[in-house]
Amino acid sequence: AKGEYDHFMMKEINEQPTALAQALEGRIDPDSGRIALSDFEPGTFEDVESVQFVACGTSYHAALYGSLTLKQAGVQSAALLANEYSVSAPPIDENTLVIAVTQSGETADTLNALRHAADQGAMTVTVTNVVGSTAAREADEALFIRAGPEIGVAATKTFSSQAVMLSLLGQRIAADQFGEVPSDLDSLLPDLESMPESIESILETTSARSIAERYEGSQSYFFIGRGLGFPVALEGALKFKEITYEHAEGFASGELKHGPLALVTPDTPVFAVFTGEEDEKTLKNAEEAQTRGAPVVAICPDGHRAVDVADAHLEIPETDADLAGLLANVQLQLVSYYAADLLDRPIDKPRNLAKSVTVE
Ligand code: M6R
Repeated sequence: AKGEYDHFMMKEINEQPTALAQALEGRIDPDSGRIALSDFEPGTFEDVESVQFVACGTSYHAALYGSLTLKQAGVQSAALLANEYSVSAPPIDENTLVIAVTQSGETADTLNALRHAADQGAMTVTVTNVVGSTAAREADEALFIRAGPEIGVAATKTFSSQAVMLSLLGQRIAADQFGEVPSDLDSLLPDLESMPESIESILETTSARSIAERYEGSQSYFFIGRGLGFPVALEGALKFKEITYEHAEGFASGELKHGPLALVTPDTPVFAVFTGEEDEKTLKNAEEAQTRGAPVVAICPDGHRAVDVADAHLEIPETDADLAGLLANVQLQLVSYYAADLLDRPIDKPRNLAKSVTVE
């Protein structure tokens, strides 16, 4: 079932344009150019005062992404690790919406958090890939990402689909809450609809393999990003360590100088994600690493100022700042894949990991 691909992971990376097109199908109203999301009755979220996302691993990174877009739409929200939720959950009441983000819908930690939230009287929604999963059955409402089966242990297409669905859901929550559609939607929707095409062009033109070759054998791999680039940096590092078994860490760009910079040497490439949000600051942070000898790989559109500064470049098409990180993530998935392949790792089934973690 891998078809022309050597691994499910590569097949699934390549399925992202289709997966996203499926996720968006019928959920944007082409006439009004508005989000339809008829998955939910009109006014479903009108009493919501705050939103908490709960999730683990890659889904947690998608949740962080979703939480940031929701905040930008003016809604109070937080992303929380599901396995920390029972000890760290902020106050919950019937005006709290708790969104469990889980590809499989079977992750024990996430189900526990969902149940805890329901016990406290919160309204619950799950954003999941699996119809009939435990999360889908137990939550008050379910939003399916329709990414199709994901076999590789490393989550790829489901991250992209989750993040996009969470940004749609966020716009819908804001619209229900404020009674009007957020004004920045007009610029976002066309770029959202061209996401499949943008990913297609990355897949066709990527230089990820040569980047992986160039930095093979490095001591550590660092990933930095700011705003919506931060969850992408975390996700880039998780994917890299998961399938290459090499040490990788993701940082908020501005945190580099607060400790991690001590680790930076010519042997620690730094992948810097530029999303259009305060890029000058991120570039300065990347240059601080470069001054210590670290090669910097900029992930940004062609013509971006970072291209002149960086040692290497992974190009993404120009898009809305809300989506640039998701395109950067595709380049990072490819870098991880090629780096793992060079090391001859069992890419689809990394040691010690399971596709769905059903124990606490
Ligand atoms: O099925 P879930 O989305 O709830 O799984 C959560 C994590 O176990 C999962 O995202 C994990 O981090 C990925 N396999 C990483 O690629």
